[in-house]
Amino acid sequence: MSQPKRYLVTSALPYANGLKHVGHLAGAYIPADIYVRYLRSQKRDVVFVCGSDEHGTAIPIQATKEGTTPRAIIDKYHEAMKQDFEDLSMSFDIYHRTSEPIHHETAREFFTYLHDRGELEVKESEQYFDEAANSFLADRYIKGTCPNCGSDRAFGDQCENCGRTLSPDELINPVSTLSGQAPVKKKTSHWYLPLGKHEEFLRNWILEEHKDDWRASVVGQCKSWIEGGLQSRAVTRDLDWGIQVPLPDATGKVLYVWFDAPIGYVSATKQWAIDNDKDWKPYWYDNDTQLVHFIGKDNIVFHCIIFPIMLKLHGNILPTNVPANEFLNLEGDKMSTSRGWKLDMRDFINDFVKKENGGGQCVDMLRYYLTQIAPESKDSEFTWKGFQDAVNSELVSIFGNYVNRTWVLMHKLCGGKVPALHADVMDEKDKAIIETIAKTKTTIEQLLEQYKFREALYQVIDLARAGNRYMQEKEPWIVAKRLNEDPAAQKLIDNCMHLCLQLSANLAIFINPFLPNTAKTMLHMMKVVDKILDWENGGKLKLLSVGYSLREPQLLFRKIEDEEIAAQIQKLKDSLAKATAASAPTVEAKKEEQAAKPSIVFDDFAKIDLRVGTIKAAEKVPKADKLLKLSVDMGSEIRTIVSGIALHFQPEAIVGKQVVVVANLEPRKMRGIESNGMILMASDSEGKLHFVSPESMINAGAGVS
Ligand code: MF3
Ligand code: ZN
Repeated sequence: MSQPKRYLVTSALPYANGLKHVGHLAGAYIPADIYVRYLRSQKRDVVFVCGSDEHGTAIPIQATKEGTTPRAIIDKYHEAMKQDFEDLSMSFDIYHRTSEPIHHETAREFFTYLHDRGELEVKESEQYFDEAANSFLADRYIKGTCPNCGSDRAFGDQCENCGRTLSPDELINPVSTLSGQAPVKKKTSHWYLPLGKHEEFLRNWILEEHKDDWRASVVGQCKSWIEGGLQSRAVTRDLDWGIQVPLPDATGKVLYVWFDAPIGYVSATKQWAIDNDKDWKPYWYDNDTQLVHFIGKDNIVFHCIIFPIMLKLHGNILPTNVPANEFLNLEGDKMSTSRGWKLDMRDFINDFVKKENGGGQCVDMLRYYLTQIAPESKDSEFTWKGFQDAVNSELVSIFGNYVNRTWVLMHKLCGGKVPALHADVMDEKDKAIIETIAKTKTTIEQLLEQYKFREALYQVIDLARAGNRYMQEKEPWIVAKRLNEDPAAQKLIDNCMHLCLQLSANLAIFINPFLPNTAKTMLHMMKVVDKILDWENGGKLKLLSVGYSLREPQLLFRKIEDEEIAAQIQKLKDSLAKATAASAPTVEAKKEEQAAKPSIVFDDFAKIDLRVGTIKAAEKVPKADKLLKLSVDMGSEIRTIVSGIALHFQPEAIVGKQVVVVANLEPRKMRGIESNGMILMASDSEGKLHFVSPESMINAGAGVS
């Protein structure tokens, strides 16, 4: 295999609309980081780019949710995500952002280039338009029923439930999320990329050339796209957030986020080159560059079909591989931000990483577990018990234990120095372990070159396992008892400890791409410089020189206690409860519910005890953004009611208000507070909430029917 001249490795640019969870980390980031660290340890020319994806409707939608501007949203989440990645030892050469001028220029140039060469078509079409809001509706602003799985929460671009990519026209019963009304069709014109024109190119390139070296799931998805018939794709949108279309007759139109975002890889490379006084061009134009995109499976079509067509038309190189990962579930269920069922990177950082003193032990524990369960070929699952087991029975008991025993024995039996290897007393076991070390290196290389990270990591642990076994069989501590009568005993001890130490040094080299912080600690114990970790030093016995004195052992990994796991599981449950309680149904959800509710008989209605109550006191519920704790006078009693209205009302402003209460609702605990009833609210077309109150003050407790 001849080596390419250089590598450009990318991780999907995360949307700057919220914190990212460990599912993201396992899919597009950690594997990329492992790959890059491995390449760097081989001194290969590699640039690793990532950054925030700051356009698209996800941003203004989040801004509305948080009651702020899109600009404030991207600034906040860009910084937050950048910090989280840093805290988890991600080693991007640049973490850029698509709001930068250099990106806007690059994306516009791309568009103009394609446009000027006649590669785009203009088409007039009928798009969904919200008359109440006087606005064309981006795909994300339309909700409806998924034609694939029947979920009634599908968006115009994708169904979150089954993952299917959709167009708004496919939705059954579409509703605008701006006004809650059914949208109308209105004429507009847009630029399209005709994918169909490139079918043959895609067939040859993916289904022939890469059918064996790309992951089967990736080729499979591409195949079904190609065979499903490649439609032209609009690359512009009617939207006021994004990159202006660089044409005179295009006011109010921006580039579609999926047109500009992958170009973000190019602009990030440009910025990196500026910062480092390098030339960016070979990374995007020279065929001897290996371009590798790490992504999650929901991004496959964009990285394997649409962006490559753009690259080809623009004269750039194509990706060599797109190792997409499947999804990571959490404790038996899909991870979901809106349902609160997730583990944010930030939460792990706060609960584990920040609590240790430096060192990055916990970072490496997470990196270890996420690699061990990496969803490389099928969805996989994060469980806290699994995390604990991986740490305690592999990192602590196998890897950490091996290194620790080696160091302790070396200090005890060899005076804290690297002993010599005596050829005259070497036996079969010694030779076998030497062979194992060499073989492990080659195996890991082969696996990493094929993007098989979990298997590669397994090989590292297996080497530690082999080391433990070897030491156990050689029993240097038993041999030491014969030291007085047997002059050869010291030589035997030396050989065993020499090989155990060299094996440890190899472990440091092999674990370095996966767990860089652990490798660093081991360097310190070996009192050697970073250079030792160069990959070419692996597989050999020459790492530690005979007679060199080594430091005392350090604890590489601590155990994860049962209580920590229990606390995390409780936290997850609380988060789910909070999200459920706090999700005061949004306008569109309510409309949907209204539309979806079947008729009921009077007796059903009569079961509901509706009463007027007067709010006597209101306060925020600590650590729950959306919840207010209300004391409501019901005439015969004062009731505590927890209501998800904190984003809409200041507590002091609502004291004295009369409201309608569902008085016979079963009590429910929210954030540890028992809520006895529910307040009726009306929501207007902007999603603002209004109390439903009697026209004038009446006695508290009055019935409503
Ligand atoms: N922001 C997209 C997502 O989170 C990924 C974009 S990858 C890109 O799904 F680089 F192509 F932009
Ligand atoms: Zn669906």
